[in-house]
Amino acid sequence: MTNNEIIQSEYSAPSNIAIVKYWGKKGLQEPVNPSISFTLSKAKTTTKVSYEPCDRDLEIDFKFDRNRADVFLPKLHAFVERLLPHLPFLKSGILNIESTNTFPHSSGIASSASSMAALAKTLIDIQIKLDDQFKVSDLNKFRSRLARLGSGSASRSTMNGWVLWGETPVYNASSDKYGVDINKHVHESFKDLQDTILIIRKGSKAVSSTQGHQLMENHPYKEGRIKQANNNIQVLIEAFKSGDFESFSKVCEQEALSLHGLMMSSSPAYTLLAPESIRAIRRIQKFRDHQHVPLTYTLDAGPNIHLIYPSSQTHIIKPFIEEHLRPLCENSELIYDQLSLD
Ligand code: PMV
Repeated sequence: MTNNEIIQSEYSAPSNIAIVKYWGKKGLQEPVNPSISFTLSKAKTTTKVSYEPCDRDLEIDFKFDRNRADVFLPKLHAFVERLLPHLPFLKSGILNIESTNTFPHSSGIASSASSMAALAKTLIDIQIKLDDQFKVSDLNKFRSRLARLGSGSASRSTMNGWVLWGETPVYNASSDKYGVDINKHVHESFKDLQDTILIIRKGSKAVSSTQGHQLMENHPYKEGRIKQANNNIQVLIEAFKSGDFESFSKVCEQEALSLHGLMMSSSPAYTLLAPESIRAIRRIQKFRDHQHVPLTYTLDAGPNIHLIYPSSQTHIIKPFIEEHLRPLCENSELIYDQLSLD
């Protein structure tokens, strides 16, 4: 590469939904407990970057959906600062970043995982294009490790399908520094899962995940939570081997409610649930008890519900969603998404 040539790169990354939740950090964006998630098909971020080398300190220009979005600049600068020891080109030059999401803005789907993962991939690519001496021994690990520095859950969005992030004695290759692809240990029946996202409330959250993670530092239930998550990882990995949906659903729902229970017992205490979230959960439980269908749900750090079920059950579950759950959503909005394997 000649010195002042503009370098470009473009990558996409999917959003993900955690079944065992990461809640609480240690050190530099490392998790206090392991987590497992799957990536989504429709909810993606695409990021285009062009980089112009020059001697000035790094300047960042950021556009979201074609519009300048300076509100994100402090977060981007903080991310770049953490990446600098790994990607030396970020010391100087002009970086133009343009990002778009396939899912609607403020739909309640967390975009930090997909956006930080897509950005990490493009920046690594630029470093490689700029410097042919730059060698990475394992590109997948490196991408996940760097995405983690932007947002913990982004470490699970640089690859597809089921990903485990965080050390656990039940999985040898696990690490606090990067996510690992565990698809080969997952029963086929867990590979065609649907995720229907009920948009109970649009818009941003009253308490951010960053604040929520911080509140875990002195949380009275911290040790119990770490134990619970480790145990749930073990149960989930067992369920994955045998294809046991019932045991999967127990973990899924306990994790969802525990996450919100931890928020309600933090100091200060808070809740992100809306009355319709609880109403939806009750309707899901009732429907499942009557119909005996494999259907479960999880929650992210917000009021929206992720309904999870095998696609073979869509013909039974979709009419229920349309009649009993869609009316609980803001502007009757929901998204039919699914697990992505590629
Ligand atoms: O990656 P962060 O810092 O936005 O935290 C994500 C936390 C949860 O979404 C609540 C759980 C998870 O594991 O994704």
